[in-house]
Amino acid sequence: MSVLAIDAGTTGVTAVVVATDGSIVAKGYQEFTQHFPRPGWVEHAPEEIWQATLAATREVLGQVDASDLTALGITNQRETVVLWDRETLGSPRRAIVWQDRRTADICSRMREEGHEQRVTELTGLRLDPYFSGTKLVWLRENEPHTWALVESGRYAVGTVDSYLVARMTRGTWHVTDVSNASRTLLFDLDAGDWSDELCELFGVPRDALPEIVPSWGVIDDTDPASFCGLTLPIAGIAGDQQSALFGQTCFAEGETKCTYGTGSFILTNTGTTPVRSEAGLLTTAAWRSPEGTTTYALEGAIFVTGAAVQWLRDGLQIIGSAAEAEAVARTVDDTDGVVFVPALTGLGAPHWDPHARGLLIGITRGTTRAHVVRATLEAIAYEVRDVLETMPDLASIRVDGGAAANGLLCQAQADQVNVPVERPRIVETTALGAAFLAGLGTGVWSSTDDLKKTWQLDARFEPAGDRGDADARYARWQEAVERSKGWA
Ligand code: G3P
Repeated sequence: MSVLAIDAGTTGVTAVVVATDGSIVAKGYQEFTQHFPRPGWVEHAPEEIWQATLAATREVLGQVDASDLTALGITNQRETVVLWDRETLGSPRRAIVWQDRRTADICSRMREEGHEQRVTELTGLRLDPYFSGTKLVWLRENEPHTWALVESGRYAVGTVDSYLVARMTRGTWHVTDVSNASRTLLFDLDAGDWSDELCELFGVPRDALPEIVPSWGVIDDTDPASFCGLTLPIAGIAGDQQSALFGQTCFAEGETKCTYGTGSFILTNTGTTPVRSEAGLLTTAAWRSPEGTTTYALEGAIFVTGAAVQWLRDGLQIIGSAAEAEAVARTVDDTDGVVFVPALTGLGAPHWDPHARGLLIGITRGTTRAHVVRATLEAIAYEVRDVLETMPDLASIRVDGGAAANGLLCQAQADQVNVPVERPRIVETTALGAAFLAGLGTGVWSSTDDLKKTWQLDARFEPAGDRGDADARYARWQEAVERSKGWA
């Protein structure tokens, strides 16, 4: 018995096969094109996401016996909005991605009209271009011909999970789960359902939205003619960050994970009541059981962390690969006063400034690329500390994602946040979470206790070094962050 998980992320789709002991026995990956039609705009072609899903799946099917697969779980980049024709499954336009900043003015306008407080009260979110709702307002206002077909019921509106389920079931199902729904600005957190009031405010017909199903439990089988010859029960759905929380087996209140990806996302399980934050954190649904119990989380969403390392590689071209960053940073003892604020697409939690921009400060004639690379890795640790400073006291934090392999970052993280940082053996926790959900939904694992047993520690980083020194460096970072705000 094993489970297939699809992780449809921002830059590519990963497919993995997870065995009952929680190990990953096969893996496939396919990147897709990032479209930047204007500065600050980011789009993906839905058809390319689908083709990447098929390619990554075919790759794993070459490594395992397909008859051993029991179920399929899906996890996805959140907030990105996709439209598709319910009949043909073709998309009339490209998806607008979570990173896209085009709705900054719509957010300001809605704020000036006095809507923010009510929106936050209902959704646990804020008026920021990050979330799906204002992207739909933009479509309605700027592409009326397309929107007319949303209104007429011909086009479905959804997030990437909904789109993939539609493609896998030949359009039979239009579904999502609470973790994705709660990122749209259209979901009432307390009622646990789409909100008529919010649908009206954002001008989105409720009928265009997917049905909200439990995060685990069988929805339907995949259509073999559409999906690589597989007839597999789709039995788990979660947005990627909530999926990582599940994959880290953070099932108890207070358990916290940080995923280092393009951005970094810190989620702490708050149990079955939504906890509100006054300090810039988001309140979000983590998952909902088939019995209808919803678990919530507090989230700190940081937009650019791993993407800053990519920028060193592709933009500045001062490292050859992301993996090289640690070795280069280790050639110097410190940044020699250089501070890098990677606000390349504005600042997310806890600052929420879409007008902030990147800032590199403290450069002297003695500055080398190693100082800049080290400043970039340290910036990730500072950004995460910014978020953790606003969270309730934590005993430890579990890390995952690509950059969790970077020991220098994990140590800097522990030194900054002053709690132990734990890295599990498997850091592809996002995909693991989707497999866990689907396996729980089909009896591969019988309970969350069963899942907990699969979690294995790889390394634990204890806070070390002088606290005063760590705090002094953090204070300099905070000063630099203030200078980066409001620039654009
Ligand atoms: O909220 C955005 C998040 O879901 C994207 O995650 O890993 O695809 O960058 P990732």
